[in-house]
Amino acid sequence: QERKLIQLIVKRVIDGVNKMSVNVAKYPVGLDSRVSDVMELLDLQDYRSRMLGICGIGGVGKTTLAKAIYNKLSSSFEARCFLFGIKETSKKFNGLVSLQKQLILEVLNDKHTTIASVDEGINVIKKRFHCKSALIILDDVDDNGQIKALAGARDWFHPKSRILITTRDMHVLNLQKLTKDDIFQLEELNDEQSLQLFSYHAFGRSKPIAKYIKLSENIVQSTGGLPLTLEVVGSLFFDKNSLEEWEDVLKTLRKNQPKDVHQSLRISYDNLDLTEKEMFLDIACFFIGRGKENAIYMWKDCNFFPIIGIKVLLHKSLVKIAGREDEFEMHDQIRDMGRQIVLQDRSPGLRTRLWNNDDIFDVLQHQT
Ligand SMILES: Nc1ncnc2c1ncn2[C@@H]1O[C@H](COP(=O)(O)OP(=O)(O)O)[C@@H](O)[C@H]1O
Ligand SMILES: [Mg+2]
Repeated sequence: QERKLIQLIVKRVIDGVNKMSVNVAKYPVGLDSRVSDVMELLDLQDYRSRMLGICGIGGVGKTTLAKAIYNKLSSSFEARCFLFGIKETSKKFNGLVSLQKQLILEVLNDKHTTIASVDEGINVIKKRFHCKSALIILDDVDDNGQIKALAGARDWFHPKSRILITTRDMHVLNLQKLTKDDIFQLEELNDEQSLQLFSYHAFGRSKPIAKYIKLSENIVQSTGGLPLTLEVVGSLFFDKNSLEEWEDVLKTLRKNQPKDVHQSLRISYDNLDLTEKEMFLDIACFFIGRGKENAIYMWKDCNFFPIIGIKVLLHKSLVKIAGREDEFEMHDQIRDMGRQIVLQDRSPGLRTRLWNNDDIFDVLQHQT
């Protein structure tokens, strides 16, 4: 009896912990100190709700940092909600309302409140979020209207609540009247951290293998300390074994400006074989956020080898798979790099893929 009870408790606890945590980076580097810095700014002891912004360029690790903070802190609150990729969701039809619904569902555990408009959503949040301390993450915000709809003012919230906003655009935070003390500027990794992250992805260990040290340092120099680039470029080297191959890739990298993220990411794409490239572009244009099953059916029909292809794309850190239905995830910088490849054919009628309603309409109407 007692054993069964203990097993039951352990299962409940593990389920509870799993439910609350999100998947952070495969090889986290320099994350702990950043988490501590942000925690200091969040000041959990203060009995006044706080709103804090994390600001930085695309691929620098804002979402990753927010995930690590969420995992660390979410159990200290009565309720929690992580709204991912707000910029993308709010572009969709009724996107902001659907985000409000998710927020209300997760914080209040309320499935029954119906919301017909953004204003109605605001009223519900304003009236009812006082009652619970909540950790709310608004990830990748690009317009002040999104904050207004989800967390318009600090006094909507319980005094122990904390709201964390990630964005590339400082201006959005200024419009929300966040001051310097309320904004954490996320910087690129330093040289040592960069080399470490590169080495994890290229060698599966924290330091380069001896004969690759100099080359690795040179490669890292060309990435500008951006975790996204380090991850993709590092993964590219994982299965390159000869020094000649390394030197070839380094030459290509050196032609780019370190700040030109798309060019650096493009090298990884160029190294894929033909069908892997097709699969990559299909994901970038159509399958982000969708389960892999349908895509696999489609690719099998094209005589591709999707299981191997997906494995390659995962190894190259070009896509990730997560969620209940094995959904494809792709960083928006990588996605945009892929979509730009498709857009190289200027006329929509000549493009291999169309994902934008206006282009589709244009092609159907003019049959170009
Ligand atoms: N501190 C870190 N250590 C290891 N990997 C990181 C770190 N920060 C970010 N990454 C990786 O870099 C990529 C981009 O990070 P992300 O958080 O999505 O950037 P952002 O949200 O700023 O655009 C992700 O794939 C992530 O796993
Ligand atoms: Mg992000």
